[in-house]
Amino acid sequence: MGSYPEAGSNPGGNDCLVKRRLAAPYPSDSSEALEQSQILCADEARVADSRSNPRIGEYYLSNLTNPPMCHVMSPIVRSVTFRFDASFEPSWHPRLPEFACVANSVSLIMPYAEPYIARSVRQALPLLGEDLREEAKAYIGQEMQHQAQHRKFNDLVVGQSPRLSRVERAMAWTFRHLETHRSLSFNLAFAPGFETLAYTGARWTEKQLGHLFDDADPVASSLFLWHLAEEVEHKNVAYDVFHAASGKKLSYLTGMLSSTLMLIFFTWWSTWILLFDQRQLLRPAAHWHLFLWSFGFAFDLFPALFVSIMPSHHPSDLADPTWFRLWLECYDPKSRSIPLWNGSQPVCEPARPCLVE
Ligand SMILES: [Fe+2]
Ligand SMILES: [Fe+2]
Repeated sequence: MGSYPEAGSNPGGNDCLVKRRLAAPYPSDSSEALEQSQILCADEARVADSRSNPRIGEYYLSNLTNPPMCHVMSPIVRSVTFRFDASFEPSWHPRLPEFACVANSVSLIMPYAEPYIARSVRQALPLLGEDLREEAKAYIGQEMQHQAQHRKFNDLVVGQSPRLSRVERAMAWTFRHLETHRSLSFNLAFAPGFETLAYTGARWTEKQLGHLFDDADPVASSLFLWHLAEEVEHKNVAYDVFHAASGKKLSYLTGMLSSTLMLIFFTWWSTWILLFDQRQLLRPAAHWHLFLWSFGFAFDLFPALFVSIMPSHHPSDLADPTWFRLWLECYDPKSRSIPLWNGSQPVCEPARPCLVE
């Protein structure tokens, strides 16, 4: 369950080619479209291949950047609803309870950070060109959908660990303070930093999907994976909005730094509370895993942050994690459903249990 393709295999197989051929953003000439599709899928296979056998340094040197034809994903608002029944256990990962603690801590931030970002971007809409304005609206739609789903999930988490409401109050105050006391330029710059972390989280997660999500609750797993997938999809928009509406270098640096530090701090605070409440604080294996994950995430995050502050940087230069993109293609807009995580490869057929609103 949940294993990656063997080194050298194409994660999407022929489906990958077919889907790319049908994708709208490619040139109208069919032979050119097919050729570009093949290049894109070959790149996906190369990323998957390196992921199966990553070596320090090589990973970023060879796979951090995308070829230009990969700059094509625009956000799509998917109204997926995640339902948790009365028996749902907020510590949703029996094999890795400490991972559930970290993930739940990240989830707690979303109803505070994402509406703050959405309101900032909404203020900038009149300053944007028509195309970017439409993308920004879709970006806002995705973020508001994310926070709404996390809010319902968080109610269950806080219900079991009421001390987390203290962290929630601190986050509410912090983001309200930023919105009312900082410039629009800073508030818009906060978003690219937030997106860089989210994008890095997706890359880091994709490298160990099976390890992190096998044996976990499938609905909770799907909530986090769906969110990460859409974070990859809209990784460019916040950057483009900031540069169209402001572009001030100092704001960009302070926004990036603030978002990174804040998200790490709030995640760390909530994680300690959850570890304590779930009696994981004295478990050495939990700390060992947290250390390994932190180290691995930092190893992914720092190069991404470094690249992100380079003058010639654009987020579309960063290679998309493959699995998420293929999984999102399984979304059915008619039934507003997406396959639940079940450890399989992200191929849409045969039919699997779906989330339906
Ligand atoms: Fe989001
Ligand atoms: Fe986002």
